[in-house]
Amino acid sequence: MPSNVIVGLQWGDEGKGKITDLLSENSDYVVRYQGGNNSGHSIHIKNHHFILHLIPSGVIHPLIKCIIGPGVVVDPKSLIKELNKLESIGINTSQVFLAKRAHVTMPYHYLLDQYIEEYLGDKSIGTTRRGIGPTYEDKIGRIGIRILDFFNLKTFYKKLKQVLHYKNQIITKIYKRDPLSFKLIYEEYIEYYKVLSPRIIDSVYEIHNAFKKRKKIIFEGAQAMLLDINYGTYPYVTTSSTSTGSVCSGVGIPPNYLNNFIGVAKAYCTRVGHGPFPTEIQDTKIAHVLRKVGYEYGSTTNRARRCGWLDLLSLKYSCMINGINGLVITKLDVLSELDIIKVGVGYTINGKKLKNFPADLENVEEQNIESTYVEFTGWNHNISDISDYDNLPTNCKKYINFIEQYLNLNILLISVGTERNQNIIKNKSLFFKIFS
Ligand code: GDP
Ligand code: IMO
Ligand code: MG
Repeated sequence: MPSNVIVGLQWGDEGKGKITDLLSENSDYVVRYQGGNNSGHSIHIKNHHFILHLIPSGVIHPLIKCIIGPGVVVDPKSLIKELNKLESIGINTSQVFLAKRAHVTMPYHYLLDQYIEEYLGDKSIGTTRRGIGPTYEDKIGRIGIRILDFFNLKTFYKKLKQVLHYKNQIITKIYKRDPLSFKLIYEEYIEYYKVLSPRIIDSVYEIHNAFKKRKKIIFEGAQAMLLDINYGTYPYVTTSSTSTGSVCSGVGIPPNYLNNFIGVAKAYCTRVGHGPFPTEIQDTKIAHVLRKVGYEYGSTTNRARRCGWLDLLSLKYSCMINGINGLVITKLDVLSELDIIKVGVGYTINGKKLKNFPADLENVEEQNIESTYVEFTGWNHNISDISDYDNLPTNCKKYINFIEQYLNLNILLISVGTERNQNIIKNKSLFFKIFS
């Protein structure tokens, strides 16, 4: 039975939540493998609008097991809030499980995220301030607290005592702020553990047993390729490895268990937070249209997203690293308002054409990196009710064909609206082979 990975190919917010919800219909499991509550995955179904931060985007389907995997970092308070919110609107969350190996985001992680950003000043990353970087730092530094540390409260007590003593030194001596109270954190987190304990599992065996039983599994990525800690636009990235390569380490399976790699990209580009964005639209009028029509505001922080043209050089790089064999293009409907649509087809540095996506994109202005474009005439037609590819306006099909030719990849699915059913299946044979 195929196991499919769904991954973002740009700087996040490509519509992974909508696509995962849609494609998980016939699945048995949806498993998150990295990131934390820095994610915001929006799902619209009729009059309901859900924003998921930690819970996998299969949760709207009542029978799917949703696992927050070992590679995820978990703020228990945020998770409980999300569970309660879903329950309050009638979504059954009984199939949401949490890996015992997952690391826990603690109050000092939030503070340190904020303090480091303040320290960096105009070089700050523009993080979501959810403590994600500091949580992963502690994991790699081997002083993290894992969910399983709550199983024996003496262990939790000892670990928290030691790490908080260290963190309070940093908080008071380096950042000159007040220390955090051990007692308050200890008592608060024991309460969270009590609420979450029925959901805690050994996800490694659960997932391996699911493979043995030939269950259908979707591995859901958070953030996206260009925010990847290794291959993204470092240092303006998130702190996890977001690519398909990290599914195996994030959930504890071998690479040969994975079959299909579904990449999600917007028909244009957005970025929230700081960092290079070579195809960013400087014309505020056009950026304003995209932001307004596409509702480009962060699902987690509500910050206005920076808007730009589709960047095919970076998209090709993302498809290459992630081994994409099924490409999904979202938000094509948003471009319908524009008379002229540009597509970035490469970069130049000081006028010299680059062959590949550069590893050192740290400062676009200093390096004088510019994008080159191909222009398309818009289609001036509402496409959000179209479900058959042949019915798309000719100019719209020209745009899609150009993307496919540049990437040398067939598009699997095109999303033309926020609703679950607003899609065009472009490559029907591949789609039904993977998802039926
Ligand atoms: P994610 O983080 O990748 O799951 O994406 P977000 O949910 O943060 O942001 C994507 C936004 O675009 C959400 O508000 C979605 O409802 C919306 N969206 C997804 N697909 C489409 C589409 O095809 N058309 C339009 N207009 N909106 C879409
Ligand atoms: P989803 O899953 C868009 C960005 C932040 C910042 C950088 C580092 O919804 O696509 P962090 O808090 O992770 O340390 O911030 O990464 N970022 C996202 N941008 N969508 C996301 O998630 C993001 N998660 C983090 O804005 O630039
Ligand atoms: Mg998002």
